[in-house]
Amino acid sequence: MDTHSKITIRAMTDADLEEVLAIENESFSHPWNRDHFLDELKSVHAFPLVAIDPEESIIGYICPRLLLDEGHILNLAVRRKFRGQRLGQLLVERVLNDCRVGGGSTVSLEVRQSNKTAIGLYLQMGFVETGRRRNYYYNSEDAILMEYNFDDNEVDNAV
Ligand SMILES: CC(C)(COP(=O)(O)OP(=O)(O)OC[C@H]1O[C@@H](n2cnc3c(N)ncnc32)[C@H](O)[C@@H]1OP(=O)(O)O)[C@@H](O)C(=O)NCCC(=O)NCCS
Repeated sequence: MDTHSKITIRAMTDADLEEVLAIENESFSHPWNRDHFLDELKSVHAFPLVAIDPEESIIGYICPRLLLDEGHILNLAVRRKFRGQRLGQLLVERVLNDCRVGGGSTVSLEVRQSNKTAIGLYLQMGFVETGRRRNYYYNSEDAILMEYNFDDNEVDNAV
């Protein structure tokens, strides 16, 4: 399936939250609740996005913020049955582009050290590991800190 030609990415709204929460609940052991998403929808620095299929169903979302030149990805998930079709990559690419256009110099995130899928996705896209937060998650798992640096990647692309 040529997923990307049929997928639209647009700003998340309050009306999306039921579907977003269903994806959130199937994706995480400690999911965000409605208030977490409402905070993102209200924040002036946040620009949460959803990916929708041709039937207007939400199949993924991403919650980024851009404050001055620092972007941050707080949340990302793709509906389970749509995983492995580069939708995660599409959402991250969109955020990188929006942050670049908005004057960002870096985009950072935290990811569970056991989440090999997400780490693989971020590494493939040019993020690098910048550190660790010990016992960051509820189960005492470490967070890997990762960062995408626009200067580094522009140099790479130019070579
Ligand atoms: C992480 C997540 C968003 C990835 O979305 P996705 O649409 O399935 O990922 P993509 O198809 O875009 O994958 C792109 C790249 O990610 C990596 N990747 C994907 N699945 C992988 C796996 N099972 N193991 C290792 N790397 C994997 C690969 O580098 C892949 O590139 P490739 O297709 O060229 O091999 C999705 O798995 C998800 O929603 N997981 C649950 C929530 C979550 O963990 N969110 C991230 C929190 S930090």
